[in-house]
Amino acid sequence: MKKQIPFKKNVIHGHSCESMAELPDGAIDLIFAGPPYGSLINYSSYAAGEQHYKAHSTDLPQYITSFQTWFSECFRVLRAGRYCIVNLGTIRENHKTIALPFYAVSWLEELGFSFQFEIVWDKIVGGRHEARNFLAHPFPGRFTPNNRVEYLLFFKKNPRKAFAPRSKFYDANIIPLTDLFKREIANNVWHVHPATKRSSPDVSHPCPFPPEIPERIITYFSFPQETVLDPFMGSGSTAIAAKKLGRYYVGYETEDRFRIDAERLIAKYKRKYMAI
Ligand SMILES: C[S@@+](CC[C@H](N)C(=O)[O-])C[C@H]1O[C@@H](n2cnc3c(N)ncnc32)[C@H](O)[C@@H]1O
Repeated sequence: MKKQIPFKKNVIHGHSCESMAELPDGAIDLIFAGPPYGSLINYSSYAAGEQHYKAHSTDLPQYITSFQTWFSECFRVLRAGRYCIVNLGTIRENHKTIALPFYAVSWLEELGFSFQFEIVWDKIVGGRHEARNFLAHPFPGRFTPNNRVEYLLFFKKNPRKAFAPRSKFYDANIIPLTDLFKREIANNVWHVHPATKRSSPDVSHPCPFPPEIPERIITYFSFPQETVLDPFMGSGSTAIAAKKLGRYYVGYETEDRFRIDAERLIAKYKRKYMAI
């Protein structure tokens, strides 16, 4: 087994993931990424407390360039045979829908990732209320459905390589097959409420993952004591789930305010789940 070059774990780097120079090639066992959705939210404006933080149009060529820069670094740092899971949704602007999740499959395959499958995240409530117009004027051709799904896109680097623990001395525990697994997690539609002010009162981020999503991903796609990378750390939900499940985390976040808030939350949860 090749010896691993050491790198700092359980840290959020306060700069863009377009360069993850802190991470050696192949150092990461699982990537879970929720990249920005085009220009839907201007995170700098939100972090600065500005009221108008929503942008109106996406510069798609610019977005593609950024996307490919972020994910070519992800490809470099991911270990062969392991998963990079990307959360994306469509965005609606200027009378059309920009199908980011559908484009992203080919953008990521161009970088060398191999698409495995998708899970539709049904948010049960919330989302875009686009049927409202039809409800007020129920005529043919006016109906656009409410949109309450996002996509979890599962890619592998070198899919022929075995998914094995790093150390041959590591005793991989079997994951218990719960009723929730058989009824819900085993299928490719997951029903999980979005995080709300009530469910996550400590979180100040505009679009945090509900803990259930990173927890499911980390449980089923990594072994304990492995390292999970979230290149867009936001509120720290992936890091908290990693700590809770006995994994290490590494994150990147460009907005100091989000990074500091995430570090505060992680410290709070660390006291609760003292795993590693
Ligand atoms: C969609 S949110 C991710 C939210 C996160 N999954 C959570 O649970 O809170 C995207 C985050 O990435 C950050 N971001 C945007 N561009 C970035 C970049 N190039 N490198 C690192 N972070 C970035 C934004 O500030 C924002 O917090």
